[in-house]
Amino acid sequence: MAQDRQALRWWQRSVVYQIYPRSFADANGDGIGDLQGIIQKLDYLNDGTPNSLGIGAIWLSPFYPSPMADFGYDVADYCDVDPMFGTLDDFDELVREAHKRGIKIIIDYVPNHTSDKHKWFLESRSSRDNPKRDWYIWRDAKPDGSPPNNWGSFFGGPAWTFDPATGQYYMHQFVKEQPELNWRNPEVQAAMLDALRFWMKRGVDGFRMDVVGLIIKDKELRDNPPDPDANPNLPPNDLFSRQLHIYNQDQDEVHEMIKAIRATLDEYPDRCGIGELWGPMDRWVRYYGENGDELQLPFNFRLMYQPWSAKAMRAHVDEMEAALPSFAWPNYVLGNHDQIRLATRFGGQAQARLAGMLLLTLRGTPTVYYGDELGMENGKILPHQVQDPQGINLGIERTRDVCRTPMQWDATAYAGFSSVEPWLPVSEDYQTRNVAVQSTQPQSILSFYRHLYRLRRNSPALLGGSYRALDVEGEIYAYVRETDGERKLVVLNFAAQPARVSLPGFASGKVALCTHMDRNGESVDLGKLELRAYEGFVLEV
Ligand code: GLC
Ligand code: CA
Repeated sequence: MAQDRQALRWWQRSVVYQIYPRSFADANGDGIGDLQGIIQKLDYLNDGTPNSLGIGAIWLSPFYPSPMADFGYDVADYCDVDPMFGTLDDFDELVREAHKRGIKIIIDYVPNHTSDKHKWFLESRSSRDNPKRDWYIWRDAKPDGSPPNNWGSFFGGPAWTFDPATGQYYMHQFVKEQPELNWRNPEVQAAMLDALRFWMKRGVDGFRMDVVGLIIKDKELRDNPPDPDANPNLPPNDLFSRQLHIYNQDQDEVHEMIKAIRATLDEYPDRCGIGELWGPMDRWVRYYGENGDELQLPFNFRLMYQPWSAKAMRAHVDEMEAALPSFAWPNYVLGNHDQIRLATRFGGQAQARLAGMLLLTLRGTPTVYYGDELGMENGKILPHQVQDPQGINLGIERTRDVCRTPMQWDATAYAGFSSVEPWLPVSEDYQTRNVAVQSTQPQSILSFYRHLYRLRRNSPALLGGSYRALDVEGEIYAYVRETDGERKLVVLNFAAQPARVSLPGFASGKVALCTHMDRNGESVDLGKLELRAYEGFVLEV
């Protein structure tokens, strides 16, 4: 289905750029990124000139007051800014400055759990008859003193911690400093929906909703069954990965809550809900709502987990296109603050360019992670440098610190991120892999990305056109994007060897963009198109 560019909403047109605030830019010299740092870098994202990235929306990972047990995903107050990141005034300034540049603001919303230092939890744990007791999930121990059910925490160990003061267990599917809210309680619902209004009034355009499929659990909290296919070599404390997640997530009743969240967003014009959602395709599409009354963009992470293969990528896209109801808008994610870096996952810089071309030319909203435009790779984290609770509890090979290293701005000390030693080490390649150096190189990955973003935002076919895959041999993924009056052909060679292909139905075309940046503008014969290893083209046809 083709869609007119004029009719597209901002969240359909924009590239969403994820900023991990701790790691983007440090303005006050304490080694930790902050809101003023982000403000200073907005021109890099979009200064209105054709050569900037032209980002249309930024998503900020949490900046709320937090003890940082999970680096901000343990929120101690939903309606404030942690002094480490700045103040509410800084936030208001960020909204103003971003909007001036045509950048929408999406913030993280963490509905499933608070910090154990949130005043709600302090009250809740103070006594069994406290009015907020039922705001969290408290249960008695089993007769033998063990936890109420067998659920495991994503970060290792059981999903329950015993609180001796009141003699019950509370639930936490992440670290024990992240107690889970009881969304079945109407007071919790009301308080959490009010937090959305608080930020919308301040000009926030959208929310990325953390593990939103978890907010409703099985009413009886039944045991999860064991997963017969679980990896036998899991660390002993990884109970979570040994189970099938039947009762702790994706309950049918969660959709009622998501509808209530969406109705709250709709109290303000043109707001967008993005959900962090997992699970099989047929259950995942339900988060768009039966009539489009749930989330506009349930995150689609599946491209990230495909093997590096043209067939696998195409199979996923075709399957997803077929699964979407007609009102639903696709979206794709290739990296975030929980995953290994895209360039590392797919095996190198050439693959990173090709994957970027795929992400930015498919039908739907792309979400990109800070630094992927530089080809940033996993940082090297030594055992004593591990900060992430997942790495601390489940082993260094699981630490997410590798994708959270400081943004690389220039070749000065600490990559121009900070004037002092940052909270995580700067990657060793920062002297050559940085914004300043790559900006001077016409064929750098940053120059490639700038060109690619520009091409996308100026092309009605790439923004809103239909998608149709072509049947071609080998490790080539080729598709046509088309609207009335414009057509683009994308041809991607996933092989480490050169290839020659014939594109059925096409005689010749002109290269609008080549991943290697040295054939832009060339006219080519589509009866025998030659591609180098990992080369991709966007062609005018
Ligand atoms: C989400 C976040 C992750 C966090 C977890 C708990 O998966 O992306 O960073 O640790 O939820 O909030
Ligand atoms: Ca700082």
